[in-house]
Amino acid sequence: MTTTLPGNVPTVSLERLPDLLRAMPKAELHIHIEGSLEPELIFALAQRNNVQILYASVEDLKRAYAFTNLQSFLDIYYAGASVLLHEQDFYDMAQAYFVRAAADNVVHAELFFDPQTHTARGVSMAAVINGLHRACEDAKATLGVSASLILCFLRHLSEEDALATLAQALPFRDKFIGVGLDSSELGHSPEKFARVFTQARELGLHLVAHAGEEGPPAYIWSALDVLQVERIDHGVQAVKDPDLMQRLARDRIPLTVCPLSNLKLCVFPDLAQHNLGALLDAGLVATINSDDPAYFGGYMNENFTQTFAATGLTAEHAYQLATNSFEASFVDAAVKQVWRDQLDAVFASFAT
Ligand code: HPA
Ligand code: ZN
Repeated sequence: MTTTLPGNVPTVSLERLPDLLRAMPKAELHIHIEGSLEPELIFALAQRNNVQILYASVEDLKRAYAFTNLQSFLDIYYAGASVLLHEQDFYDMAQAYFVRAAADNVVHAELFFDPQTHTARGVSMAAVINGLHRACEDAKATLGVSASLILCFLRHLSEEDALATLAQALPFRDKFIGVGLDSSELGHSPEKFARVFTQARELGLHLVAHAGEEGPPAYIWSALDVLQVERIDHGVQAVKDPDLMQRLARDRIPLTVCPLSNLKLCVFPDLAQHNLGALLDAGLVATINSDDPAYFGGYMNENFTQTFAATGLTAEHAYQLATNSFEASFVDAAVKQVWRDQLDAVFASFAT
């Protein structure tokens, strides 16, 4: 069986679709680097740093990864991050992620990090940012993966705390490209962070925010109109509001969708009911991402292959998702063109 693709995109047999999904170059734009901490690394760092953790073994910890909603995950995610103390810990965590990303043919990654989770425990901003930044530089040099950092504010904390965090990060302004908003969504609408996002915009930083993961379409409107973000993280609740869908399509506001995350946090009852296909078919710049791969059961290629197997998305959608990930990334147009050419070469090599 074959699928017809638009324009000059070659036709690819459905049997070869999983291999194509794995082989095609892609950008990852929604990955919390603390969410890439594998249980084995949590235990190794706990031992190295003499930090007590609540679980007796790796298996014991993995058994706790049975989430019912976002908050049930966040409680365990913050506990896992407590083993990170020194610059080298942040480096090791990011380096392990980049090895996985390179294996999945991720050519570019924009990494979220949560400094408040660490500075609240007495870890310096320098240790966090310098460790992550050094790993980004080495990923480019040794793995050919380009990477940059996006500093996220925790929305369950106050805007004053976010403002203080931005001020603390300013000595490292050249080591991160943007700011985002994450953590507990319900009850913490984006406009709570209007002033800190204005400051970030005036500093020339890129702006993104989680909105419409569990929260209503109104939070997506607020992220767009009040915070003036360039991308929406998750955004899957947008389908409930036709006017919002039109706005997202018209302004080509990307959505960084995370299917396995949505499954594990019970945003959708099963992957077959995920609305990614509907978002793409409505003309939105939707992308696939892993969110917190160590907790949600898969990195990029698992997100692609499992979602396609469950929903029946086609090679045409695969091409769209890869080009969307390049379009949505914060890099120069010339670099995006290089990746699109690489994508075309991979599709050509899979042509029937
Ligand atoms: N949503 C909100 N906050 C988060 C997430 C998420 O999916 N992952 C890590 N922090
Ligand atoms: Zn996220």
